Amino acid sequence: MQMIAGNWKMHGAVADIAPYAQAVRAARLHVDLLICPPAPLLPAFATALAGSAISLGAQDCHAAPSGAHTGDIAAALLYEVGAHFVILGHSERRGDHAESSAMVAAKARAAALAGLTAIICVGETEAERDAGQAEAVVRHQLAHSLPEGFTGMVAYEPVWAIGTGRIPAEAEIAAMHATIRAGLTGQCGPAGAGMRILYGGSVKPGNASALLSVPEVGGALVGGASLKAEDLLAIADAAPGV
Ligand code: 13P
Repeated sequence: MQMIAGNWKMHGAVADIAPYAQAVRAARLHVDLLICPPAPLLPAFATALAGSAISLGAQDCHAAPSGAHTGDIAAALLYEVGAHFVILGHSERRGDHAESSAMVAAKARAAALAGLTAIICVGETEAERDAGQAEAVVRHQLAHSLPEGFTGMVAYEPVWAIGTGRIPAEAEIAAMHATIRAGLTGQCGPAGAGMRILYGGSVKPGNASALLSVPEVGGALVGGASLKAEDLLAIADAAPGV
């Protein structure tokens, strides 16, 4: 079964929760559906989705269990208010907050200790792809962002495809996902063979069917199109059957 995950980024308001939750609860799903709203919306979202099969995730956590870290959020608190997943190492965090792969790995350790499943993002910039470095960059990010004993998921998000409407060719996605699969089995052993690898970057209802059928694509991490429940559900509908 594939996973379709919506990353709301810094969008959304309390008033959006009820209609969104009502729409996704009413859907017949053949995928795992995950919503990652801004952290302050998690408690009310958890109430609105209670008893459904739809999961909630956060968009970041701190590497320490608690402490003097003004503005940061502990993984255990995210879990307590209803998140079971956390996106880590998104390119917007690597860029806006200078997060290194080592920091991402430390956060992933904290997430696992708190019971959160991490979705670790990797992906090259356009300049790196143009320079023929895409696979090397992603291999390096993977090698340094995943902690020992990692049991979560990876999302391949080419930076140049995020929010741009541009997507890699299916063959490029297939090649990168094969590279990531090889990295996962190398780093995580047999567990790496079954880990989901999501694709993210301009996934829309119109291109989802093709993207989700690429070999080794285990689902999608959706930004802009996840803000409308009907679009996220159309993407979920486009996933291949089990
Ligand atoms: P878009 O779907 O808006 O391109 O964003 C992708 C993304 O960054 C998801 O994490």
